[in-house]
Formats: sequence, structure tokens, C-alpha cells
Amino acid sequence: MYLKNHLFLKVNRMMDSFDLSSYLFSKQKQVNRVIDEIIDQTTNSSAVVSAMRHSLLAEGKRLRPVLCIAASQAVGGRTEDVLMAACALEMIHTYSLIHDDLPAMDNDDLRRGKPTCHIAFDEATAILTGDALLTLGFEILSSIDLNHIKVNNAVKWLRVIHIIAKAAGYKGMIEGQIKDIAAEGNRIGLKDLKKMHALKTGALIEASISTGAILGNGSVEQIQQLSIYAKNIGLAFQVIDDILNVEGDPAVMGKDVGTDQVRKKSTYPSILGIEKSKEFAKNLVNNALQALDYFDNKSDPLRAIAHYIIDRKK
Ligand code: IPE
Ligand code: IPE
Ligand code: MG
Ligand code: MG
Repeated sequence: MYLKNHLFLKVNRMMDSFDLSSYLFSKQKQVNRVIDEIIDQTTNSSAVVSAMRHSLLAEGKRLRPVLCIAASQAVGGRTEDVLMAACALEMIHTYSLIHDDLPAMDNDDLRRGKPTCHIAFDEATAILTGDALLTLGFEILSSIDLNHIKVNNAVKWLRVIHIIAKAAGYKGMIEGQIKDIAAEGNRIGLKDLKKMHALKTGALIEASISTGAILGNGSVEQIQQLSIYAKNIGLAFQVIDDILNVEGDPAVMGKDVGTDQVRKKSTYPSILGIEKSKEFAKNLVNNALQALDYFDNKSDPLRAIAHYIIDRKK
């Protein structure tokens, strides 16, 4: 109890001096600028390029890139050294949203305040756009200039590529999505629900944080502590996503609400109820904050993001 109170006081003191909205705004701007430059419509005007820009440059929170940058900062790294990885993570995330919204999956019409990719274009274009963003993410991750990079830096990037590929793949996000679809209409237990959420959403969030920590030259201990932080906020993030699907405002969120119930999805509110789900998310965030005790004030952005995950309205 003492430890928890002590922790809260400490966090609140630090939070007083940290302005998360300005931080988010400036990092989002940096990420958006690079993405805008990479997917340049003037050199290629195909429908897939228009669709990539439609989905990617819409108003997403850029949580994964910001986490990658903030994790690197927490271990003493610089934004410019992780910016490409941050953008790649956003591309992979956006691909997952485009496919998640398809009629064969969640069949949603609204995303990031705009018609979903298959509505604005068509299904074939949406599938190809997702594929294109996934592969572009890895193209960017692997585009380090081998002539001008030290061997241990190249090894670091290889490690990052491996981590992200695994997190996005059939043992990570895809496995979570498979479980999500299979659980539609079935009442699954809490253990399975937790596993499903940790995979479909937690895996890429965790990879974003470890990528930042590795590229920022974090120590083994720092990377381990950040992995505890990541596991907890990753799960909390999806629990809050479930709650917002029940009580959020679609105008603020830029996506429809009530859809989980219509599709009989297995979610935290459907299994635990709203209040217990909120309590659960809060406990997860407290665990995440505790893991940050290991760090100095360079991890303030990560602290603030953990609070934001609980308080967010979108
Ligand atoms: C939505 O992710 C899908 C989940 C994995 C919960 P975000 O809530 O991060 O969506 P954007 O990127 O801000 O649109
Ligand atoms: C999306 O989960 C997870 C991935 C895209 C991998 P949800 O289907 O629960 O998220 P929303 O509510 O559509 O954003
Ligand atoms: Mg889904
Ligand atoms: Mg969905």
C-alpha cells in the first residue's frame, strides 16, 4: 500500500511538469511528415497509393510510433535514430486496420473519421493496400545503408526486423485476429480473452517499445523493464478499446461504437462488465508505471502515455 501511494505521488509530481499533448503533437507531426514523403503521390498515382494515403494520413493517434520514440528516449536514444522504424510500425498497424475493417472481418464503414479503405475504394484495393503497407513497412525497416553503417548497428536493425515480423505474424497479431474471429458468438473465458488481446493488440505495441529500446541502445535490464511496461499497457489499451466500443462517442473516436455487441465479439465489458473492466485496465496501468520506477525522468513521456491510455476518449 505504502509503495502504491508512494508511486502515485511520485508519478503525479513528474506529471505536473510534463505536457503530453505538446509531446504527442510534435511526434505525430514528425511521423506524418516522413510518411507523407515516403508515400509520394506525385511519383505514383495508382489507386493503391491513393488508398495508402487515405488510410495512413487520416487522423490516427500514432500511438505505436510515439511509443517507439518514447521508449528510445527513456534509454537515452534520439528520435531521428528511430523515426524510420516508428513510421514502419505505423504502416504495419494501418495495414492491420484496413484488413480488420474488411467485410470478411469486422465489416466496418468508418475509421479515423473517414470511410474505411474498402468503402472509399473497393475491397480488392483495400486488400492490396494492406499488403502494400505491410511490405512497405519491412522495406523501410531494411533500407539501412549498409555502406555507411557499423556492423553492430546492422545487427540491431536485423533484430528489430525479426521482432516486428514475429509480432505482426501468425504467432502474434495474426494469431490474435484469428482468435478474435473464432471467438465471435462464443463465450470464451478470461484467460483466453487476455491471450487474444495480448496478441491482437499487445504484440505490436510491445514490439514498438522494444524496437525503440533496442535502437536507443538500451541495456538488457532496461529492455526487460520496458517489456513489462509494454505488456501491461498493450493489454490495457485493448481493454479500453473494448470499453470505448460500448460507451465512447463515435464523433470523437472516428469509428462506430456498439459494433462489438452486434457482432457478438468476446470483449472485456461483455465478460467482466464495464466497471470491472475499468478496474482491470487501471491495475494494468499501475503495473506499467511500477516498471518505469527503474528509469529517470527521461521516461516521463512513457509515464504520461500510460495515464493517457486509461483516460483517452479516442
Ligand atoms: C485501433 O488502434 C485498433 C486496436 C488495435 C485497438 P488505435 O486506437 O491505435 O487506432 P488509431 O491508430 O489511433 O487509428
Ligand atoms: C483491431 O482490434 C486489432 C487489429 C487491427 C490487429 P479491434 O477490431 O477490436 O479494433 P477496432 O475497434 O476495430 O479499432
Ligand atoms: Mg477486429
Ligand atoms: Mg475492428
